[in-house]
Amino acid sequence: MEVVITPHGAVVNEIVAGIVARVLQSRAAPVLGLATGNSPLGVYRQLIERYQRGELSAAHASAVLLDEYVGLSPDHPETYRAFIRREFVDHIDLPISRLFTPDVDAGDLSAACRDYDQLIGEMGGVDVQLLGIGRDGHLGFNEPGSSLASRTRLKTLTRATRDDNARYFDDRHERVPRHVVTQGLGTILEARHLVLIASGPAKASPIARAVEGPVSAMCPASVLQLHPHVTVVVDDEAASQLRLVDYYREAYDNKPSWQDM
Ligand code: GLP
Repeated sequence: MEVVITPHGAVVNEIVAGIVARVLQSRAAPVLGLATGNSPLGVYRQLIERYQRGELSAAHASAVLLDEYVGLSPDHPETYRAFIRREFVDHIDLPISRLFTPDVDAGDLSAACRDYDQLIGEMGGVDVQLLGIGRDGHLGFNEPGSSLASRTRLKTLTRATRDDNARYFDDRHERVPRHVVTQGLGTILEARHLVLIASGPAKASPIARAVEGPVSAMCPASVLQLHPHVTVVVDDEAASQLRLVDYYREAYDNKPSWQDM
């Protein structure tokens, strides 16, 4: 696991946008794994700017979303499909027919979840998966207690996560759906490169638990320790509880030029 610590969020965005841009440039049919929440927003803005300057194209790419609420009407502005279109996909040239999100309106939700994993497999897997982290260490919507081998499935949100996400629902936690479909931790682990983004003091504890704590279902993001290619990009505040902070800085500052992110 590579941990990159930067002075502030703008540098985090620059580094992660660079990783995504390289995937878009180097692969014939790249598959991007997209996340919602605040953490990747700056990365999306960076990528949109690069597209507008003519520096990148996603016309040959596909994208799959990590998770989706269950129970919102399809035209609700806070579905994650609407979020990712508004914040990113509608501003670049990625064909909208190549944006895939879990089919939460399917009559047979279990079958739809299995189909989602199958679809990702048929596309050849995700090349780079962007991830944020919840304050309880959740990844996607895999709440504490999630099986580290889980597949895409229905989950029930914790009260803490519904409280955190109430900001998107007029600060009314009772309006936040109780149920979601999320890629499982096992599904996420199949992506070729996982990139976890975090900034600000509220992320210091979950980042420390994910990166240096024991691998445990109590901190779902700790499952990243089992993946061979993970990049954690954090600002100073989110890194503030890491024990090996000096080592991570030294490793990054002395990174050989031939070694990719
Ligand atoms: C939601 C999303 C996660 C995201 C998390 C943190 O629960 N399902 O994918 O990582 O929020 O959000 P933020 O980045 O806004 O802190």
